[in-house]
Amino acid sequence: MVSPHNNEYSPGLKDVIAGETALGLVDGEQGRLHYAGYPIGELVTRGTYARVAELLWTGEWSDEAALACAPVSGGVIEVLRLLPEGTSPMDALRTAVSIWGSEQGFGWPPTVEQARAVTAFAPSALAAFARIRDGLEPIEPDPSLELPAGFLYQLTGAKPDTAAARALDAYFIVAAEHGFNASTFTARVITSTHSDVCSAVVGAIGALKGPWHGGAPSEVVDQLHEMGDIDQAEDWIRDTLSRGERLMGFGHRVYRAYDPRAAALRQVAEGLADVADWLEKAIAVEKIALRLLEEHKPELSIKTNVEYYTAAVLQGVGLAPDLFPAIFALARHAGWTAHCLEQAEANVLIRPDVVYVGQGYRSLFDS
Ligand code: ACO
Repeated sequence: MVSPHNNEYSPGLKDVIAGETALGLVDGEQGRLHYAGYPIGELVTRGTYARVAELLWTGEWSDEAALACAPVSGGVIEVLRLLPEGTSPMDALRTAVSIWGSEQGFGWPPTVEQARAVTAFAPSALAAFARIRDGLEPIEPDPSLELPAGFLYQLTGAKPDTAAARALDAYFIVAAEHGFNASTFTARVITSTHSDVCSAVVGAIGALKGPWHGGAPSEVVDQLHEMGDIDQAEDWIRDTLSRGERLMGFGHRVYRAYDPRAAALRQVAEGLADVADWLEKAIAVEKIALRLLEEHKPELSIKTNVEYYTAAVLQGVGLAPDLFPAIFALARHAGWTAHCLEQAEANVLIRPDVVYVGQGYRSLFDS
């Protein structure tokens, strides 16, 4: 690890300790993920997204915690209607949170109420966007439904079946928090300047949009389609790796062991009938991919990451692949906002140093 004072440059801040958190323990060596001490497997089995979000915001577990989707204002709907054709769901969500943030006028420091409010707003905004682009009218939220089920309802107009609602809830739990990943770090940097929680979330959505962070699951689907039948998978993967390209859904900055979120989601996916054939292929391809990645980079231990089985779960509940990154963003709202609260509680402006490697001194007045 790099100590804060030895002036050593670590590209990508690899192994640099950039803060302290009591929210998520991400143990890459042993493949453990805990939220405030509780292992992710237990949280998926015993929890709901609302309980997990409350745990992250307050540090307390409550079996009574509930969170429904919130209504979207007319102003936000109007802006969503004005977005150009072909706007990506991540761009739409980022815009919606930004407009909503200006309506709320939140200041600093962020509060738990603000964290709840933006987390409850975002799914309704994304569902409204998805309906508007399909030529449909947005649907008012149903306050009796928990947030992931309420999102599905606002998207489709039908109450989701229990298995789909439970599967999406499990995905939201697994994706809620993950230490100092790029988007969370972005949110903390923004909070550290005494900016508001909506600005922090807008920045975090921008960071999550990149395929190296949150854009991977839809590309997992594309790659599985592209490679054709299972007997063509090995050649396709070899070709892809030999071109220096990446296999989506594999590799992680922190995990060297199997990503515990992938394991939890694979279990959830196995309970979804609609995705059975797809999942069978994904499991077979995963085995081949792990073997070839081991040959390709034996020193790195590149394993399956959360995005691989996210693709199965989100398809299994009937969601379109181009919505996957934005749905990841909805789930991560709990973690982002919890980090904003934690940052504000012991705030120091985040402003690292940089090594100047440009031109030596020169003057515009030299001939
Ligand atoms: N396929 C092929 N090669 C890979 C993969 C992969 N999935 N992952 C890493 N490598 C290779 C890289 O090409 C690189 O090789 P090089 O040193 O010859 O250039 C080496 O392993 C190290 O890769 P880095 O990018 O330095 O590793 P880093 O820790 O920075 O990257 C990352 C992690 C970005 C997730 C990477 O593994 C990746 O691009 N994976 C595919 C995209 C993906 O699945 N993203 C979702 C991540 S999970 C999440 O964010 C929620």
